[in-house]
Amino acid sequence: MELTKIKNRIIALTILSTLLISCGGVPEEKSAVALEEKTFSVEEVLEMVAKENDVTRTLYTKAIVGKGKKQGMKFDEDWRKDDIEAGPLPALFLRGVATSIRKGPVPLGLYLGSDFPVNAANKFEGKQAELFSQIKKDQKPQFFYDEDQKLHTAMFADLASAGACVSCHNEHPQTAKSDWKLGDVMGATTWQYPKDSLTYKETVAVLNSYAKGTVDIYMEYLDEIEAFKESEKPEIGSKWPEEGNYLPTAEVFLDSVRKLASYETMKQLVASK
Ligand code: HEC
Repeated sequence: MELTKIKNRIIALTILSTLLISCGGVPEEKSAVALEEKTFSVEEVLEMVAKENDVTRTLYTKAIVGKGKKQGMKFDEDWRKDDIEAGPLPALFLRGVATSIRKGPVPLGLYLGSDFPVNAANKFEGKQAELFSQIKKDQKPQFFYDEDQKLHTAMFADLASAGACVSCHNEHPQTAKSDWKLGDVMGATTWQYPKDSLTYKETVAVLNSYAKGTVDIYMEYLDEIEAFKESEKPEIGSKWPEEGNYLPTAEVFLDSVRKLASYETMKQLVASK
């Protein structure tokens, strides 16, 4: 399972969606040109990538961490340490995606924060703290232009969607709050981008940088497993932890994300305004 193969696949999927679009009944050339010329507001794009993130995060939390724990797999905040044989917690998976995006050429920022964080470094401040209290009330996304950083900023509710979110946070020794309930707004993902409108190409680049980030951190997890000395290594292939001591390859994982998310994203990419 080489990274190049997966990257090619991401590109192939992008081309495939472009092709699907150009077969939509309109004369091919005209449609392709129309697509190239299409622009999206930064709000629309951040909403699309946030949706992809929701699917990825839920899939990782439920199908990998939740089911994996039942198979005896371990997930830990110190998963990168040599003497700890574990995978990344959901929040650290997300941070891994953010780190990968930051290293790449796309100027997309991603951050997970809260008003009662486990890690004090994740506490919202200033304008984001203000808007987060609104998100807690109505769970609606918030958009604003951050004058200091000169970045368009979007915030989306991060919900306690699984029992594991609640129990782990409530019981954590560093927690700032120990009565989280299922369905609570536990935090928000903050996304930032410097421009207020994006071409179709820039939009696809944003989506691809997110997908590549997912693959990067997932591959790091698989590498970590490769180095396990004490723990039993799960078999990595096409099966999921639900079926036993298995983990999907990065490609299988990404495929599932794509199946769950890309239809919605694609509809938005091709919708005419
Ligand atoms: C097994 C433990 C565990 C599970 C499960 C877990 N978290 Fe966390 N979460 C943590 C830890 C530890 C951190 C702090 C990570 C860091 O150092 O930034 C964190 C960070 C966060 C943050 C950033 C603010 C903060 O508290 O530092 C949010 C928001 C969050 N988690 C929400 C969730 C949601 C929603 C789920 C379920 C979908 C979830 N968590 C599942 C342990 C967990």
